[in-house]
Amino acid sequence: MRQPAGKLLLFGATGDLAQRMLLPSLYGLHADGLLPDGLTITGTARSDKDDAGYREFARAALDEFLIADRKDERAISGFLDRLFYQPLNASKTEGFAALKTKMGDISGGLAIFLSTAPWLFGPTIKGLESAGLTAANVRIGLEKPLGFDLDSSREINGIVAAAFPEERTFRIDHYLGKETVQNILALRFGNSLFEPVWNAQGIDHVQITISETVGLEGRAEYYDDVGALRDMLQNHMLQLLALIAMEPPARFDGTAIRDEKVKVLRSLRPIADADVASLTVTGQYGEGASQGEIVAGYDAELGKASDTETFVAIKAHVDNWRWHGVPFYLRTGKRMAERRSEIVIQFKPVPHSIFAGRGGKLQANTLVIRLQPEEYVRLLVMAKQPGLDREGIRLSEVPLNLSLEHEFAGARRRIAYERLLLDLIEGDPTLFVRRDEVEAQWEWIDSIRRGWEAAAMAPKPYASGSWGPTASVGLTERDGVTWNE
Ligand code: BG6
Repeated sequence: MRQPAGKLLLFGATGDLAQRMLLPSLYGLHADGLLPDGLTITGTARSDKDDAGYREFARAALDEFLIADRKDERAISGFLDRLFYQPLNASKTEGFAALKTKMGDISGGLAIFLSTAPWLFGPTIKGLESAGLTAANVRIGLEKPLGFDLDSSREINGIVAAAFPEERTFRIDHYLGKETVQNILALRFGNSLFEPVWNAQGIDHVQITISETVGLEGRAEYYDDVGALRDMLQNHMLQLLALIAMEPPARFDGTAIRDEKVKVLRSLRPIADADVASLTVTGQYGEGASQGEIVAGYDAELGKASDTETFVAIKAHVDNWRWHGVPFYLRTGKRMAERRSEIVIQFKPVPHSIFAGRGGKLQANTLVIRLQPEEYVRLLVMAKQPGLDREGIRLSEVPLNLSLEHEFAGARRRIAYERLLLDLIEGDPTLFVRRDEVEAQWEWIDSIRRGWEAAAMAPKPYASGSWGPTASVGLTERDGVTWNE
């Protein structure tokens, strides 16, 4: 079913994600003429609104969250004309008949986007089924959290699978919608340069960092039950790791790419209880200075004591031939020194330095893939400093710099959800996460959580505005590795 849907139905249409991301993204697609002609967007949530009320709500969201140069009054009013609204208590089946009536004729295909609390998945799917909104021309996009461990994720996936076969189920990991993340595929498989050294013979280790400066952002209720491991590592970071570590897929399509990713995820070495203390570090931010402001610690922000981790660092291994003995250091945290998502590939040193006898010092090559806030690929290489070398050969590490912002200066920077919503509407599953991937991700994450519980590991404090607990430095320094900061 690769036909664009004629209608879009948004659950959670008044939520935070809808305001910040979904409505601005749909507007962006509309403004550029990328939405199918006549596509209607029906929002549904508990609040009692009518179509006009939802259009007002959407206008306010665009006012607040759309970047200034995207605001165009004609395009906005054209976009608002596409919007409709049906109030619904999704926990009760009764309301779905009215929703079905509101949706009208769906013979042109329907795409549903579900962004609701996990406990509402079951009742929502039941309600959709009862109203006949799960037919073969309906596909569904699912926003996280899709469970909090393997069992609960299986349960949710099972409920969804009873109504929507896998090829009509689109699990969202918004990192896959980011242009720079897709660029990992272009870099690895569009160039012949890297692949021969992209393995244990050529690479010493890999670092993946997603650091944020924000704290709880009013999401205390959600975050405190989840923590950094489930919120960021289970999904976004493992997807990045899979893209870096996977074998070359035969084609750019959903089956080939996801087949390769899942092999990596299944090759992650489980972390045994006895090893959690040496292979993982957890932290929780205390007060400190973030972006020039004094900010409260996690407990104070939350209003109670908590042992939820807001930082996690892990030394991981992918147990296969390609990556034998290559550590993948992963870390993510809130209230850290900088907002930064990046992947660092540290290559091995040359086998023998011809410069040693002449005083020249070499550093091994490093490839930095910066995903945000800047977008660049930087390869650090050795070069000779100009000079007559009477006192020895001086070598320096210099960057070969590919700034994607600069190279593609004219191209529009899109929100990750623009790409994902369009793919959902058009039915392209390539950038969505398949069930076997999610389950492999949870399996590995669960082994870590079990270890933490067995070891009664409590998060170590770190000051807001720092790079996390000092123990995370120890995690890499023990191996003679320094985090790229
Ligand atoms: C979300 C997490 O999935 O990703 C948030 O729930 C986090 O806690 C966000 O802030 C980070 O996304 P981005 O695109 O800002 O890096």
